[in-house]
Amino acid sequence: MGRLPFIAGNWKMNKTVGEALDLARQMKTSLAKVDSVEVAVAPPFTALFAVGNELKGSRIVLAAQNLFWEEKGAFTGEISPAMLKEIGCGYVIIGHSERRQYFGETDETVNRRIKAAFKHGLKVIFCIGETLQEREEGKTFSVVERQMEGGLKGLKTEEARPMVLAYEPVWAIGTGKTATPEQAEEVHRFIRNKLGGLYSREIAGEIRIQYGGSVTPENIKGLMTQEDIDGALVGGASLQAETFSKIVRFREI
Ligand code: PGA
Repeated sequence: MGRLPFIAGNWKMNKTVGEALDLARQMKTSLAKVDSVEVAVAPPFTALFAVGNELKGSRIVLAAQNLFWEEKGAFTGEISPAMLKEIGCGYVIIGHSERRQYFGETDETVNRRIKAAFKHGLKVIFCIGETLQEREEGKTFSVVERQMEGGLKGLKTEEARPMVLAYEPVWAIGTGKTATPEQAEEVHRFIRNKLGGLYSREIAGEIRIQYGGSVTPENIKGLMTQEDIDGALVGGASLQAETFSKIVRFREI
């Protein structure tokens, strides 16, 4: 059975509510006829509710960029899974390299967030990937393996089933340096085999693995022709409806 391609736009810390609504409206129009690709957008927290309302009735799914694992309480500045669920989020991005790099996220905190998301019925886009130094030192596979084992620790097979992984080499994020389709495929295959070992071959065959890092309308097609690349997590190129919809319509390129 084929895996449905999944393209998600990570807006990061961009777009006021007004700007986010404009972008969501444009995307709704330009993606109205797309039906063989799953599409999600992850606006900043402040715009989630408004964008969620705007996207009602469309096939574009709402995603959040992070969550905190506690249910509620004195955690100033944090957002709970139930808050995201209530406003219609389907997905939540967890473990993005910017969270790991700038905000002290570790495999352990990633694991707690993933478990909290599943508990509340939010599907996870779980990000992993090596830095340039780690790649140059030949550590790509061991880093990805450590991130997977740490992030997925204690997660049962049924919890893992709806998960999406995003392989995002840190050196390719926002740098204009995309991994070649072959470089990406090599790691994607490794990730899928690892999922097979952690769960089962059947589950590994179902889980979608996105590539992320300077994805553009120019390079998406080559990436998507690889067997184990099932979609993309798009940052910069998701901030404009025209470029994002070209990426979503990669088959027409
Ligand atoms: P980029 O970001 O497409 O701007 O490189 C990707 C990501 O961080 O998810």
